Amino acid sequence: MTAQPLLSAYAPGRVELLGNHTDYNDGVVLGAAIDRGLTMRGSKSTGGMISVSSKTMGCVEVGGSEIRPLVDDRWANYVLGVVSELRSLSIPIAGFSAEITGELPAGSGLSSSAALELATALFLLKLHQRELPPLAIAKACQRAEHRFAGVQSGLLDQVTSLFGRADHAVFFDCRTEEVRTIPFPKGLTLIIAESGKKRELASGDYNRRRAETRAAADALQVPALRDVTSLQLKTRHDLPELLRGRAAHIVEENERVWRAVDFLLAGDGPGFGALLNASHESSRRNFENSTPELDLLVSIAQNLPGVLGARLTGGGFGGATITLCEQPAAEEVATQLAKRYRAESGITSRVIISAIAAGAR
Ligand code: GLA
Repeated sequence: MTAQPLLSAYAPGRVELLGNHTDYNDGVVLGAAIDRGLTMRGSKSTGGMISVSSKTMGCVEVGGSEIRPLVDDRWANYVLGVVSELRSLSIPIAGFSAEITGELPAGSGLSSSAALELATALFLLKLHQRELPPLAIAKACQRAEHRFAGVQSGLLDQVTSLFGRADHAVFFDCRTEEVRTIPFPKGLTLIIAESGKKRELASGDYNRRRAETRAAADALQVPALRDVTSLQLKTRHDLPELLRGRAAHIVEENERVWRAVDFLLAGDGPGFGALLNASHESSRRNFENSTPELDLLVSIAQNLPGVLGARLTGGGFGGATITLCEQPAAEEVATQLAKRYRAESGITSRVIISAIAAGAR
């Protein structure tokens, strides 16, 4: 028997710079791929079995033709979901055996799920010598997440991981599907701090926010919250308070993303940083997707010298924060952030200085 060639694909994690929960509201987002990710490496197998393993998550083996979401080993659903979606695009995925490696802990808020989906998709396409347009790959991965993980997520994570570019932010307009990369100002550094509280998207908070923002758009009689300005929203006193807060968050996040694009192009770090702070405040008050731990990380960071802004990143309800700081201060900011967070919360957090890296390949 001739050995099957080993192939591999890599997809990075991402940070959401701004545009919190705007993606599934037809809005605009700003993300960046980070220098940590997941690699899938393997080959075709005989007999049609699908076998995936990871040192941290274990090993899963399923019969190749009967793909359905697993109840145990739910991490493997991101892989199986992609297999199922590629098959429904008429790509006949055969049995394969693969190992996942990398340093992107699940639930840390850096989108290990999208990285796993994309690494799987790129690996399988390569294995079957097929190609798809990048946005079609991103959407297949998103559908995998909807159908196999039960999370009604938008496209931010997949698009950022796929289109990421070293030292560039990724701008994505979820309505027009325009993707643009924007140079990240020189002399600025991003610090990622994990709150140590896992974010469990499927737990329902995320889908609930999605339903609330949909309800707000319906009440405002617009196709999506994308179609409302903050000025218009101020006159709508008829909207119930909860929905008004949810809508204000989305509407103002979209406006912050547009302004951030200008600040980035102008190399205006303090302007950009102020938007991060405003975004976090809105998460805390309007969208209620922050946690005491994320608030603590953000407030410690905001008071350290050299810091321009900080906010939670991604879905919220746990996960991580990003801190934007002047490059010379980065080491000290990271050290102090970890130290003070541990002193005040008792939690040892992973704080990393992250480069903005290239996307999936
Ligand atoms: C998660 C989802 C994304 C996006 C963010 C919040 O990361 O997967 O689609 O909605 O939350 O902006």
